[in-house]
Formats: sequence, structure tokens, C-alpha cells
Amino acid sequence: MIGTLYISHATMDLSPEDLAKILRVSVANNPKRGITGVLMYHEGMFLQYLEGPEAQVAETLAAIKDDPRHRNMFVLINDQIAERHFPDWAMALADPTLMPPKDQDLCRRLHDAVSDHVTGVLKRQLQSLVANFHRIADNRPR
Ligand SMILES: Cc1cc2nc3c(=O)[nH]c(=O)nc-3n(C[C@H](O)[C@H](O)[C@H](O)COP(=O)(O)O)c2cc1C
Repeated sequence: MIGTLYISHATMDLSPEDLAKILRVSVANNPKRGITGVLMYHEGMFLQYLEGPEAQVAETLAAIKDDPRHRNMFVLINDQIAERHFPDWAMALADPTLMPPKDQDLCRRLHDAVSDHVTGVLKRQLQSLVANFHRIADNRPR
């Protein structure tokens, strides 16, 4: 069994009704594939955790990937798991306002990291990383 976590960017502002629609379709489809999981929509991004048999998780991801309501899907975790974390949830909706501040911060950093153009603090950190290449790289023939 596989547990997969991905992040993606919403392409539009989703209302609670829009989210409910995604949840309804997921709850209808996922049991057919033996998929359980959780979805969260937070500050313009989705985090979704899917678990189930490997081929079915891949199939579900493929079905979701081209959905026009999001883009930039980036898989963060794709690990073998011994048992499900959410055996009773065909798809549950997580409330981001209840998330601990450190997880909110992590989500923002992840959101920045998968953007088309990295900005803000992460951008400055990456520029500093590139500047550091002067110290840790050379072009001697090998
Ligand atoms: C962020 C996001 C998460 C989704 N999660 C699921 C899911 O877990 N299962 C699912 O069947 N569809 C999910 N969908 C919807 C699929 O992209 C697609 O619309 C749906 O599977 C089509 O189902 P249908 O052929 O029964 O209409 C999700 C869509 C989005 C934008």
C-alpha cells in the first residue's frame, strides 16, 4: 500500500460549495479504487493525502492531475505504508484554520517552492545558495 501527499496550486478561488463538489465526487469514486484520504484547501493551494493500493493511487492521481481547478501538482511523499492513516475516510476535508502555526508556515514555504516563479524569502535563500557555489564548486577536468 502507498501513501501519497501532493501539493498543487488552485487556479481559481474556490467557494465552500466548489470544495463540497470535489469532495462529493471523491467520496463517490474513491471507494471503487480502494482509496482513502484527506484534502485541504489553504491560501490558494491544495494539499491532498491519498492512500491505497499502488496502482489505484497512481490511477487516482492521473485522474486528478489534469483537473483545470488546479495545476503545478507536485508529489511530496510517495511511500509504502503498512496500514492506512484514514481507513474510514473515502475523502475528508481538513480545516486549515485549525492547523498548528508551524504547519501553516510549512505550507506557505511549500506553496512558494512549487510556484512557477519562486519569490520572497525562499528566492533570497536560493540566490544565496547560488552565490555559495563559488566557494564549493570548481571546473577542473574530471
Ligand atoms: C484538488 C482536487 C482533488 C481531487 N481529488 C479527487 C479524488 O480524491 N478522487 C476523485 O475521484 N476525484 C478527485 N478530484 C476530481 C477529479 O479531478 C475529477 O474531476 C473526477 O475524478 C472526475 O470524476 P467523474 O469521472 O466521476 O466525473 C479532485 C479534484 C481536485 C481539483
